[in-house]
Amino acid sequence: MAIFQPVRGMHDFLPKEAYRFSCLIEQGRTLARHYGFHEIQTPILEKAEVFSRPLGESSDVVGKEMYLLTDRGGEILALRPEGTASVVRAFLSNGLTDTLPFKEFYTGPMFRYERPQKGRYRQFHQIGIENLGESSPWSDAESIFLAQQYLKSIQIEAFLEINTLGDAASRAAYKEALVAYFKEKRTTLSALSLKRLEQNPLRILDSKEPEDQDIIQQAPTLEAFLTSEARTFFETLCTGLKTLGIAYRQNPRLVRGLDYYTHTVFEFVPPSGEGGTLLAGGHYDHLVELMGGPKMSGFGWAAGLERLSLAACPMGAMERSIAVITVNFNSEAYTCARLLRDQGYIVEVFSGKDFGKLLKKADRNQARYAVILGEEEINTATVSIKDLDNRIQERVPLASLKEFSKPL
Ligand code: HAM
Repeated sequence: MAIFQPVRGMHDFLPKEAYRFSCLIEQGRTLARHYGFHEIQTPILEKAEVFSRPLGESSDVVGKEMYLLTDRGGEILALRPEGTASVVRAFLSNGLTDTLPFKEFYTGPMFRYERPQKGRYRQFHQIGIENLGESSPWSDAESIFLAQQYLKSIQIEAFLEINTLGDAASRAAYKEALVAYFKEKRTTLSALSLKRLEQNPLRILDSKEPEDQDIIQQAPTLEAFLTSEARTFFETLCTGLKTLGIAYRQNPRLVRGLDYYTHTVFEFVPPSGEGGTLLAGGHYDHLVELMGGPKMSGFGWAAGLERLSLAACPMGAMERSIAVITVNFNSEAYTCARLLRDQGYIVEVFSGKDFGKLLKKADRNQARYAVILGEEEINTATVSIKDLDNRIQERVPLASLKEFSKPL
């Protein structure tokens, strides 16, 4: 019978990768806690409306990429494509609007029906934060600083690009100017962009179609249409970033693919520009209200763990361990293992006739030391300890393992 394969774009995480993931998550979780973000977990399945309006009916994520299913009760559900709308839903449905600011850290699988390629999957994992109820650009700058500190802590070099999408009034004026401009170019625009011209003209700026590139380059930028409030907001954010020592580049073409953003949007991209955005997010003024809550601002970001894992080369080498090697499983072997584990070491017991093979197994499993229990050792209540990095071996009393103090 043919062996089942996983669904296209979805992966198993074998121990090395799973361990790397847990290191990346733990690092983010600990750092976020230092900035007052506490962990929240929301269900993987939500009602589809949680995402469709908030992310934008015309966005790729909602229009083309959501995994939708109808449950046995006839309800239309979606496998969550991102975390922000889920966190806002949880904030509102748990009645937490009086406990502000609501600062949450989250991690977990997300699903998008995209064309799989390196760094882009149909089930991928995000790590992210949301800060609801704080509307100052200073607080936004601090959340960007947290993102930068996180990337640094996992030894990823990335460059920050920022832009402002302005407030509702700036956007309305800009949209009008953009529509007028693109209408003039109607005959040369791609079919996809023509469709977007009707639905969401701002998204044309995000087009990857070759025939649109020149037109996009010449298009008016939002900057000229910013209201004075929106301009001040952005200038304060930039002051905040400078105060915190964060280098950035303003990219007026950065619009992002989700509709809920207002004011600041940002992305951390690898210096080579290859491999896709590592971490991205922004400010949102209307999302909470749109989802049935009070008027309040929010800010957040999310990073794709698979992309971080690809970029963070030196991170998450498996932890070293100690292998107890013996001829037949016996009580001495388990006594050794217990004594060592009591002191916090990772220990595995291997038994077999061929010690050469057992030592190879220990090496493969990242052991730093092999505690060898042959017949002679057992008869004399001793163990031989072999350092597997420099192959030096010594014999010590078994009882001395109570105070084994070698670093791994
Ligand atoms: P996003 O830009 O759609 O934003 O995704 C954030 C990050 O998730 C991306 O920069 C990328 O690293 C990763 N990612 C997205 N799609 C895939 C995929 N198919 N395969 C692998 N990695 C992927 C959001 O999701 C927003 N919720 C971020 C946010 C939080 N904005 C405000 N708060």
